[in-house]
Amino acid sequence: MKYYFDWKKNINENELNVVIDVLKNDGLVLVPTETVYGIAANASSNEACLKIFKAKNRAQDNPLIIHVSDKNMINSIAEKPNEIEEKLIDAFMPGPFTLILKKKKIICDVASCNMPTIGVRMPSNEIIHRIISKSNIPIAAPSANISGRPSGTNIEDIKNELSDKLDVIIDGGECKIGIESTVVRVDSDGIPEILRPGFVTESDIKNVVGNVKLSDKLFKKVEEGEKVESPGMKYRHYAPSTKCVLVKSDENQIKKVNELLNKNSNACVLGFSEDLEYLNIDKNKFINMGSKNNLNEISHNLFSSLRKIDTMNVQLAIIEGVKKENLGLSIMNRLVRAASNNVV
Ligand code: TXA
Ligand code: MG
Repeated sequence: MKYYFDWKKNINENELNVVIDVLKNDGLVLVPTETVYGIAANASSNEACLKIFKAKNRAQDNPLIIHVSDKNMINSIAEKPNEIEEKLIDAFMPGPFTLILKKKKIICDVASCNMPTIGVRMPSNEIIHRIISKSNIPIAAPSANISGRPSGTNIEDIKNELSDKLDVIIDGGECKIGIESTVVRVDSDGIPEILRPGFVTESDIKNVVGNVKLSDKLFKKVEEGEKVESPGMKYRHYAPSTKCVLVKSDENQIKKVNELLNKNSNACVLGFSEDLEYLNIDKNKFINMGSKNNLNEISHNLFSSLRKIDTMNVQLAIIEGVKKENLGLSIMNRLVRAASNNVV
């Protein structure tokens, strides 16, 4: 790493010029967004985007999301959206929402993995927004983590993993939302399909365009060679090295966690604050995700909590699940993958 900039309180204009210079010269910048941190590079440069794939050890067929600052920039990188796509853009951008559109040539082939489409996202976070609007560069940025690891939502969690691969680190504090954007494509019948659930939910989308469907791959293990709508679905994700088991949310949840604790003496629990007093576990083996009645809090803490598991020196991590409703569906999508589909 060449530069570390602390922009938690405000954006420093001189440092902003350095960041833009680095991006113009094909460098990599760690940037905050409202969802998770991203590893940013110039989306028009094959060379710059190749560095992202190397830094993350990312599969060569998993395309990068392209970040823009406004609607004019969407029009410069993607073919004209249809009526439904337009409505989704107006409703959810800027914000934690990514729309798949046909790409224009200005976006390099490495960023799109030679696909005819790109994911377009207009973040609301002020820092990345300023970088894009001032530089006028479309920014390719995947989540900040080595592929397969939980995404990074604060600098402390990811600096060891990534700092030697980056030119600039921008510290913008903790990401507000904590899980990645909702990825949507509109199919040929005009129905939006959620390829990756996020903070923008099924019902939010339904309220805007009257219709929505969930990809049937959201909770499935994708078999080798199986065709998927979004390459990211194929890969192992968010997984700690420690073995994990996810306990579904039902009236027996606490009982099941205690049964697992009885059988496994060397375990930790990733759970809800109000459950701790009912669990047969030492307080220092408990990772608090927040209140079970506050999905925003759980989402905010999710990746940081998953990253703590591997620091606990345990053989098993027992994770409490939430109901697959609204934001709970997106949280469970990440947890099921973190537990490699080991759900009881
Ligand atoms: O919130 C976010 O979206 C964060 C922040 C940094 O903006 N970014 C992020 O990027 O999560 P990444 O690369 O970790 O995830 C991108 C997902 C992958 O699952 C990828 O397969 C999918 O979006 N994707 C990208 N381009 C696509 C395309 N053209 N068609 C279908 N899926 C696509
Ligand atoms: Mg990712």
